[in-house]
Amino acid sequence: MSPPDQPPSATASRDRPVLVVDFGAQYAQLIARRVREAHIYSEIVPHTLPATEIADRQPGAVIFSGGPKSVHVEGSPRIDPDVYRLGIPILGICYGAQLIAAQLGGRVSQTGVGEYGRTAMQVRSPSLLLDANADDRTPAGDGPDSPTAADTEERGERSVWMSHFDSITTPPAGFRVTASTPQAPVAALEHPQQRIFGVQFHPEVAHTPGGQAVLERFLYRGAGLAPTWTTASFIDEAVAAVRRQIGDGRAVCGLSGGVDSAVAAALVHRAVGRQLTCVYVDTGLMRQGESDQVIDAFRRSQGIDLIAVNAADRFFDALTGVIDPEEKRKIIGELFIRIFEQAAHDIDGAAFLVQGTLYPDVIESGSDAAAKIKSHHNVGGIPDEMDFELVEPLRDLFKDEVRTVGQELGLPDEIVWRQPFPGPGLGVRVIGEVTPDKVGLLARADAIVRAEIAAAGLERDVWQAFAVLPDIRTVGVMGDERTYGQVVVIRAVTSDDAMTADWARLPYELLEQMSSRIVNEVDGINRVAYDITSKPPGTIEWE
Ligand code: XMP
Repeated sequence: MSPPDQPPSATASRDRPVLVVDFGAQYAQLIARRVREAHIYSEIVPHTLPATEIADRQPGAVIFSGGPKSVHVEGSPRIDPDVYRLGIPILGICYGAQLIAAQLGGRVSQTGVGEYGRTAMQVRSPSLLLDANADDRTPAGDGPDSPTAADTEERGERSVWMSHFDSITTPPAGFRVTASTPQAPVAALEHPQQRIFGVQFHPEVAHTPGGQAVLERFLYRGAGLAPTWTTASFIDEAVAAVRRQIGDGRAVCGLSGGVDSAVAAALVHRAVGRQLTCVYVDTGLMRQGESDQVIDAFRRSQGIDLIAVNAADRFFDALTGVIDPEEKRKIIGELFIRIFEQAAHDIDGAAFLVQGTLYPDVIESGSDAAAKIKSHHNVGGIPDEMDFELVEPLRDLFKDEVRTVGQELGLPDEIVWRQPFPGPGLGVRVIGEVTPDKVGLLARADAIVRAEIAAAGLERDVWQAFAVLPDIRTVGVMGDERTYGQVVVIRAVTSDDAMTADWARLPYELLEQMSSRIVNEVDGINRVAYDITSKPPGTIEWE
């Protein structure tokens, strides 16, 4: 559905956020993202947040996520019941809906039969959330109690995604049941006057057709919110905030070539221009053409002050004789930090350090207040003892929003849509000892894999596609000659978040094209294999 006709306003974009209360669901982040896709700012909060603190944040609406527990289990997560008295519109999803029913006097039963996956749902009565025709009428307040003939036509069967064991069997007093399924007599319920809604299905998942429209009806019609969270409004606010923070100081940013640091740098540059200096450390372990691309995009296209340090020799020296993957990571990470530190200290008076921390990092670190330096294995991790104040302009954004901001800031597609690349780079894709020759061989094969994926138009369908050099030799024959050359493994996976992944079902013709180009164009390689392992049990990288 299209949002009500309300002009986006730069100043109002974060007013009245939608709070997504996390009941331990894998879906809380997804719900928050879907709300943002409706151009309304959302944040995830713990279910332990007292009602007074919820009220203090002046939310435009509250959404209760699903959760793995049963409301009947002792100690299952609850919400402060005073939240129902705040007059804030509420939508409960799955466990969230059951909790509303249980806390407001309805009944949730352990029926012994759950529903998982695609389910046919019957829409039974006029419903603000479920009636598509309400979209074309006046917003908030004036639809659900005045059904039209068109509403009735709209009712009928819908396909929704379910994942529940308990079921709401009796709604609380004053609630209307608007839909049901074979195992969920109350699949959707609402109290339009109190503006409290519940759905047993998951509108946030792609498997529920029209699910986004259900959420948007809640936000626009149920809660009367306006779609003011836009890329342009975010950029305006972020630029103003960065200017306030940095003032006339100097800032430094380590560019890894990845999208997060790139967008953070471009944003800070828009705010403070030449008060920002970027440092790019070329480890010699980058993909073919990558260093030139980064330097070109920042120095030439964006006009950003950039110091490029070519440190390839130092990295290869440090990696001589090292074969253990974790040792490689440690050596590469520490050396990177030392080189970055040196370059940053050479920038006179730099007091601020720009980091591309994203909202999922903030959620995972369990604190939305304390600025925390990422210290995981990523190259670009910055040592704690560095005496800089952090500037983290992307702390509130999800990855897809970062890409949109990057596009709006004029960064090239190759950077905005870059696939994830491990900090230690090709160092963990050459198995065994890392030498310039092996990295050169791998980089050429890898460039062919990526070029063919791009030519086939599959770049955005695969999560990562790359080459690995397992550093084993096999016998082959080329012309009349016996060869004894290196093997290249092609790895291509689909994934949503890298936590799990499946090997990509690339067309045979595409694999054939990659294979024949690699053996013909990369001297020293005489065999190509395709990795058909998912994660788990494999990992995406080979080391
Ligand atoms: P695995 O191999 O664990 O990788 O399935 C999951 C995701 O993380 C990336 N990866 C790394 N990223 N430093 C990074 O910054 C690393 O050492 C590292 N190791 C793996 C990998 O490319 C995939 O996207």
